[in-house]
Amino acid sequence: MQDINKFINKIICGDVIDVMKKIPDGSVDLVVTSPPYNLKNSTGNGMKDGRGGKWANAALQKGYSHYDDNMPHDEYVKWQRNCLTEMMRLISEDGAVFYNHKWRVQSGLLQDRQDIVSNFPVRQIIIWKRAGGLNFNAGYFLPTYEVIYLIAKPKFKLAKKANVYGDIWEIPQEMKNGHPAPFPVKLIDKIISATNAKIILDPFMGSGTTAVSAINFKRDYIGIDISPEYCESAKKRIKIHQSQVKLF
Ligand SMILES: C[S@@+](CC[C@H](N)C(=O)[O-])C[C@H]1O[C@@H](n2cnc3c(N)ncnc32)[C@H](O)[C@@H]1O
Repeated sequence: MQDINKFINKIICGDVIDVMKKIPDGSVDLVVTSPPYNLKNSTGNGMKDGRGGKWANAALQKGYSHYDDNMPHDEYVKWQRNCLTEMMRLISEDGAVFYNHKWRVQSGLLQDRQDIVSNFPVRQIIIWKRAGGLNFNAGYFLPTYEVIYLIAKPKFKLAKKANVYGDIWEIPQEMKNGHPAPFPVKLIDKIISATNAKIILDPFMGSGTTAVSAINFKRDYIGIDISPEYCESAKKRIKIHQSQVKLF
């Protein structure tokens, strides 16, 4: 276990579990994250086996730069539960985890993510309503939302007046970002500004959106990602953002 100050305002390139294991218990206030969705382990809708199919032009068809997003389902669930266990260890007694995921249809049945979050203290599910999308399957309606699980320790409270926000947030997806699955900054701004968190961890930091948003609200961040490529571009993005924030 290392001193928390070694991690503050840093992007750490490494495996999510290995890096989280080095961070002390209860040392972060908030986790905001979106893991890989195991998209290529899919029964259909064109993503099967990563061959692309009808999704041949989708950014995620190529997968992430250093992770192929194609685990056997049970293994994936176990991995994500281990990640959530570490996140819960890292948050303080009034901390929370905002865990973004996507429900999907597999073999004609809804695959919600209950197998990942069961027995964690899920307090609320926020619906993130995205703009439009594509559906090649005539058996169900076009899915247009993702979910954000608010998983909270008992003493977690929102910032003053944030409890008036509803639980359906309509925010278009991010289009101008080289990363295949970035958060829109507005989504993370809404989460971070709704909390009093001082230190915010994103253990799947990707392009650095959570850090950019933390800077917007003068909070500290810690980012982890396995891809040296994404870590480098996140660092560059953060540097540019910091200089722009200072100008205003
Ligand atoms: C959905 S993306 C996160 C995107 C991010 N929210 C953003 O705004 O750019 C998931 C990220 O998890 C990373 N990843 C995959 N396996 C990992 C692992 N074992 N350890 C750390 N990061 C991992 C991928 O490189 C990818 O950037």
